[in-house]
Amino acid sequence: MTAFSPDMAASVAGSRSRIGQQLVEAGVVSIGQLQEALRLQPVQRGKGDLIGSILVELGYLGQADLLQFLFQQFRKERLAYQVVPAEEGIIEFRGIEKILDGRRVLDGIDLVIPRGKITAVIGVSGGGKSVTLKHMVGLMKPTRGSVLVGGRDLATLSTKELSQVRRRFSMLFQGGALFDSLSVFDNVAFPLRETTGLSEEVIRHRVERALKEVNLAGMGGKFPDDLSGGMSKRVALARALVTEPEILLLDEPTAGLDPIIENAIHYLICDTFMRTRLTMVLISHAVPDIFNWCHHVVALHQGKVLESAPSWAIAQSENPVIRQFIRGDLEGPIQVI
Ligand SMILES: Nc1ncnc2c1ncn2[C@@H]1O[C@H](COP(=O)(O)OP(=O)(O)OP(=O)(O)O)[C@@H](O)[C@H]1O
Ligand SMILES: [Mg+2]
Repeated sequence: MTAFSPDMAASVAGSRSRIGQQLVEAGVVSIGQLQEALRLQPVQRGKGDLIGSILVELGYLGQADLLQFLFQQFRKERLAYQVVPAEEGIIEFRGIEKILDGRRVLDGIDLVIPRGKITAVIGVSGGGKSVTLKHMVGLMKPTRGSVLVGGRDLATLSTKELSQVRRRFSMLFQGGALFDSLSVFDNVAFPLRETTGLSEEVIRHRVERALKEVNLAGMGGKFPDDLSGGMSKRVALARALVTEPEILLLDEPTAGLDPIIENAIHYLICDTFMRTRLTMVLISHAVPDIFNWCHHVVALHQGKVLESAPSWAIAQSENPVIRQFIRGDLEGPIQVI
């Protein structure tokens, strides 16, 4: 194992590559290989970096090895988070109530989403998970209560300020919602063309990179009808990532996929997180597997928060509703039929 000394850090001056540093520390790549990758890093992204991907491109590291490594790091990080939960929240709900068609769908939700962590929202169908996610990004307004993003109450913002806040988010909707009439390339390019004044050349570069990140390089010419369920989810993920959001909301990114593809998408989410350190909130039915892939869990039921805690604590919860949900028992407080 190579110790990453201050000298080495200095010798890769200017590097903000945490993953690169971890790879050297773990002896997976050499300092020389990291330096070479840093020299070739084609585009500085501002946030995070692509150093792991470049090491793969150079042949210094296999893609599967990189993902395995990221997963191990993620596990360590999760352990650290379990001991010292992050105090800082990026999204906060204060007493949120939402009435839809005369029904109280959200019933007094208080919750804090930790910044720079992956939070999973779990709960039975119809419990208010998607409605909760839509409130985070201001797509739905609460009947009562406040939603704060970065400490600012969304209700107090002008239309212009709200659209600035929304630009910090990307959302992958339940069902993916690709445009059938647009190619994969145009689907991914869509948010860039709609919300930025970037040139077509820069857009092409960003779209190709986003497709590569989800292992769909060269598939830009295909149409949604030609894609399998797993590929469609990956295109939707590329479209959500292409704008380099600070907060990524994913509504059931693995629903309806086979267990191998589900695992691949979870790896991809972990990889994206490790590279970019963004805040992620994902709704998932992949219980208890999802506890391996997230730092924090919010369990919702009948419009209320049952528990909001580190994933290990939810996995061991004594709450009868959560226990029944995790085990999939027919008997318990949740009425099945
Ligand atoms: N636009 C709407 N108008 C009226 N009722 C709605 C609307 N959107 C959601 N609801 C209702 O709110 C409740 C919560 O819906 P939500 O979509 O948040 O559930 P969910 O937890 O995401 O479920 P699932 O796991 O099936 O996706 C449901 O009873 C649903 O019918
Ligand atoms: Mg839903």
